[in-house]
Amino acid sequence: MSAIRYEHIKTCKQSGARLGRIHTPHGVIDTPIFMPVGTQATVKSMTPEELKEINAKIILSNTYHLYMRPGHELVEKAGGLHKFMNWDRAILTDSGGFQVFSLGPLRKITEEGVEFRSHLDGSKHFISPEKAIEIENALGADIIMAFDECAPYPASRDYVKNSLERTTRWAKRCKDAHKYPDRQGLFGIVQGGMYKDLREQSAYEIMELDFPGYAVGGLSVGEPKPLMYEVLEYTTPLLPKDKPRYLMGVGSPDALIEGVIRGIDMFDCVLPTRIARNGTAMTSHGKVVVRNAKYAEDFLPLDPECSCYTCRNYSRAYIRHLVKANEILGARLITYHNLYFLLKLMENVRQAIREDRLLDFRREFFTKYGYEL
Ligand code: GUN
Ligand code: ZN
Repeated sequence: MSAIRYEHIKTCKQSGARLGRIHTPHGVIDTPIFMPVGTQATVKSMTPEELKEINAKIILSNTYHLYMRPGHELVEKAGGLHKFMNWDRAILTDSGGFQVFSLGPLRKITEEGVEFRSHLDGSKHFISPEKAIEIENALGADIIMAFDECAPYPASRDYVKNSLERTTRWAKRCKDAHKYPDRQGLFGIVQGGMYKDLREQSAYEIMELDFPGYAVGGLSVGEPKPLMYEVLEYTTPLLPKDKPRYLMGVGSPDALIEGVIRGIDMFDCVLPTRIARNGTAMTSHGKVVVRNAKYAEDFLPLDPECSCYTCRNYSRAYIRHLVKANEILGARLITYHNLYFLLKLMENVRQAIREDRLLDFRREFFTKYGYEL
């Protein structure tokens, strides 16, 4: 029995977008969904109670970071990641592949795995597909990701072809190493860069291994957004209709809507939480950079159309003051608002799919928000 089951509810007649539910050992998730990122077993500045208040159903955490600190064995001793961080809803862990590749000159890739130096103390480590799964098994998330290689952008056809073929061999090794398929759903990751035939090759090879869900990786790596949408347009239709599809590392409001229209069910990104900490709010009228002098005497909420705790109680002028004075409450209040905003956006997207009007919704949203390319 697989730990993860996708239930398809309906397809939007206007856009082809999917409405569904993912059943996990820690609850049911309505899709399409945005997953807040909690890299180090915490969604920065948010308590689990606050995450529930804004209706988060699943969060993401990172194998690489937790392996380096505090160590997967310690988390296992604590009773697993859910217990360790006091979060009883669903969790997804990324495999560490992407994070390790982001270390740049600090790493060396071989067929066996990736050797790298710690971002903390420079010590040498090695992660193989087997090691990544050992760590993910110990952490105990509901959904775990295969250890893949994400090609940079731009990259040559040859480079991308070699890296996707290695990703397939590694995916097979991940599947063989996975100890708890009835408790944790292992998702495969499709690579292939910006090359149509390579995306097809990767999708067929990864689907052949029969995972309970599939991610599209290797996007949002610096390519222009229209190119990302084009890749999605030919990649998602290849994936099985009865399994969830996850677009990794995407979280700008416009890309969420465009991704859903192209058949994606799940997203994650550090964007809402990261920009919050430098004083930027996502609103229904586009970004509000609350640091800017023009908000010094603006006593409106971050987003006058938002009904979150932050917007019901605090002004732009006050939050600007907090951010400028480097007070932690500033980052906290904007983080709360940004996550509320994206989760609410996805709720509105689901409602629009239910009513077969997602293309109308996109037009109305973009008229107010403005496109960001
Ligand atoms: N996060 C964003 N993109 C990727 C990817 O291609 N692979 C993995 N493992 N994580 C990601
Ligand atoms: Zn708000």
